[in-house]
Amino acid sequence: MALKKRVTKKFRSAAAMAGFAAALLTKALHEHKGRLVAALPGGRTPRPLFKALSGGRADWSRAHFLMTDERLVPAGSPHSNFGQARRLLFSKLRLPPAGLHPVRGIAPVRAASAYEAEIAGLARASGGLDIVCLGLGQDGHIASIFNGSTAISEKKKNVLAVKAPAGIKPASRVTLTLKAINSAGTIILMAAGPSKKAAFARAAAGDTGIPAGRLGGRGNVYYLFSETGGKNAN
Ligand code: 6PG
Repeated sequence: MALKKRVTKKFRSAAAMAGFAAALLTKALHEHKGRLVAALPGGRTPRPLFKALSGGRADWSRAHFLMTDERLVPAGSPHSNFGQARRLLFSKLRLPPAGLHPVRGIAPVRAASAYEAEIAGLARASGGLDIVCLGLGQDGHIASIFNGSTAISEKKKNVLAVKAPAGIKPASRVTLTLKAINSAGTIILMAAGPSKKAAFARAAAGDTGIPAGRLGGRGNVYYLFSETGGKNAN
């Protein structure tokens, strides 16, 4: 088995960071002969990555895409993480629906247990998670795993219904648990801009006081930081 590595890399622009992350995903796609199982985040940070991937030449048609977390908003809401990925990536690559795995519905417990079943079905058919991409909150959250969340210590479930802390909207969410994220072959954490610098340093140092400091997959964990971007990354 390949040695696990923590790799930290800094970039001058969000586009350069996205290019590096896109190359990692594409390499993993080839290693899995097109049948990659990947989880993608919401938020602003992955937008340049989606652009880089959608401009590439790789054949993603047999890959499977999950979301690391979802905001439980009505269908068509601009706040939906899947909606953003569909708009900026899946539709551009013209991916078949069989490979797309959105969280369905907005009733928290029901949506979480349906996603748990969806992931179990996918694991039976295609194996577990190969690669997880994550954004990073200023407070050190990843996916919708915030400080003090039960999703940190959950041992059995891969998916939980959670509430974001006061002030973070939309509050009602479904998230992969830390257990699910850390089951992945490769993890890529991406952060951009000065407001993320402190949380990024804690994450890369493995500071277990924040969720992002607790990453440890089956293989490499990449901590990627871009000096610029963040708020203006588009
Ligand atoms: C979400 C996320 C979340 C996000 C971070 C960073 O749905 O909001 O998946 O974990 O990645 O909050 O958000 P930005 O990329 O917008 O800074």
